[in-house]
Amino acid sequence: MIYTITCNPSIDYFVEVDGPMMDTEVNRARNETFKAGGKGINVSMVLNELCVPSHAIALLGGFSGEFIKEYVRDKSYLTLVDIPIKGINRINVKMKNEEKTICVNGKGPFANEQTKEQLFASLRSLCETDWVIISGSFAQRMDVSWLIQMAAIIHDQHAKLIVDMESVSQDQLRQIRPYLIKPNLYELSLLAQKDIKDDAVLEELQKLQACGVENILLSMGKDGAIYMGKEGCYRLIHPEIHAVNKVGSGDAMLAAFIAKRSSHRDIAQSLKWGGAAAMAAVSTLEDVHADAIEAYLPVCHVEKIIV
Ligand SMILES: Nc1ncnc2c1ncn2[C@@H]1O[C@H](COP(=O)(O)OP(=O)(O)OP(=O)(O)O)[C@@H](O)[C@H]1O
Ligand SMILES: [Mg+2]
Repeated sequence: MIYTITCNPSIDYFVEVDGPMMDTEVNRARNETFKAGGKGINVSMVLNELCVPSHAIALLGGFSGEFIKEYVRDKSYLTLVDIPIKGINRINVKMKNEEKTICVNGKGPFANEQTKEQLFASLRSLCETDWVIISGSFAQRMDVSWLIQMAAIIHDQHAKLIVDMESVSQDQLRQIRPYLIKPNLYELSLLAQKDIKDDAVLEELQKLQACGVENILLSMGKDGAIYMGKEGCYRLIHPEIHAVNKVGSGDAMLAAFIAKRSSHRDIAQSLKWGGAAAMAAVSTLEDVHADAIEAYLPVCHVEKIIV
């Protein structure tokens, strides 16, 4: 089973405006869409499209938490594991016009000891064939020490741990020892604590492996992705498309990649599916559909790189 953990779920409120964004007059929407969000939920939604079952563990509270429960209710392959949290889940605003997107993400409700107990308890029945994807931000009063403790439980159960979070340092990765991380280029530079030139990317990925990260899936926006892991190093290449939506493409990539890896596909095939799902996510403000993912498969190519 694949488990996703979303500690700070949200409603993503996409609002499209015509022309320039104004700061002295009211911006009026041409179009608006409400989606259940938070990175783990995004991953579970794409897994659902690929008919891959997952348990989406989410800290849910308030009317926005109710919206999220309702949003995923009819997804046949997604089982929501609701961990109640006091307060109201975030409403993240994504305002876009032809040129740019402005995002305002909330802080989210406050976690407490009860939240911790329930969250940790949800991990104690994992087994060695399970995959656990922890993505996104923490609720308030949570910090990396929670992630380190969750990692310890997941390792005790011999499940595979995948982490896609911005706020983790190299030192913390040494303690967390994830099976896989999925940074984007900006997150890689945060990890390295410096700007990374193109020709230094592979070296930085090797440094992360030396920190105890088994595999790294580096997404590089329009330039595709690089996988570095035990099986070697692979590059995903695909054409650039007009980005209708810049939110959640990395989540879609991770979902499809793990969907295929967990059903024993090789790295090249899994990366190809990851690229196709990411492109499908970039191409629409709506939820990603399986037919769109399949339509992008032929333009995604993977080659092995000799490091
Ligand atoms: N303009 C584009 N054209 C084609 N593919 C794109 C484009 N932008 C992104 N992608 C695809 O989406 C993948 C993920 O993008 P990116 O590196 O921006 O992820 P991310 O920042 O982790 O996204 P998020 O965290 O919002 O899910 C890329 O590796 C690429 O395959
Ligand atoms: Mg990301």
